[in-house]
Amino acid sequence: MSLAQSLLSLLTAGSMLLSAPLKTAAPQHDADGLLFLCNREFNVSAYYVPPDLRQAEVPGQVRRMREEAAAGLEEMFAACKEEAGITLTSVSGYRAYSSQENIYNRKLRSVKGNVEKAQEYVAPPGSSEHQLGLTMDIGQKSKSSLNTVFGKTQGAIWARENCWRFGFILRYDEGWEDITGYSYEPWHFRYVGKENAKAIHDANIPLETWLIDHRLQILTDLADTP
Ligand code: DAL
Ligand code: ZN
Repeated sequence: MSLAQSLLSLLTAGSMLLSAPLKTAAPQHDADGLLFLCNREFNVSAYYVPPDLRQAEVPGQVRRMREEAAAGLEEMFAACKEEAGITLTSVSGYRAYSSQENIYNRKLRSVKGNVEKAQEYVAPPGSSEHQLGLTMDIGQKSKSSLNTVFGKTQGAIWARENCWRFGFILRYDEGWEDITGYSYEPWHFRYVGKENAKAIHDANIPLETWLIDHRLQILTDLADTP
């Protein structure tokens, strides 16, 4: 049995023993990689700062993202304007560890220390994709943002249907709460690159689940390689 075949059988056996998908989606080793999984189980270092951050040239605030993600966001906002006549806005892009810490602590205070309630929508520092520079919370011009009402706007509907064309996925969809660990966030879009975004959009599953299948596919391909 080749090394790849042994790895494949180990991984398959392991995933049958563990119940939650989060347990089997091992983190990527490359925090700069577009598929790096950052959630409450797999964290990024407090010292991690993404390379090539820049301001995305879009309307809105907190516009910094990684170069490739910023370019994708600009393309997406321009297409939304052209195809649907809607102006999307940036609400919150890159957040340093310390910014996420401040947001989280503020939230925790507002819910009187109830950790479960605080973590419904806000990631503890080190577990937020915003620290990767690959994520943008999106709004629609003149509409309220970062609440479920945003999900009913034309901008949100257009973005969820079309984001994959520009390399983004809607990260926390309705019904995925048990896997992602977060309530429905119609505003939170994660950049994964165009090819991955299309595959994940077509599969219509959370990133955690998709990564398991994707890793199995890589190992199967390796095992098939003579
Ligand atoms: N709202 C998401 C979970 C975050 O804080 O990163
Ligand atoms: Zn977000």
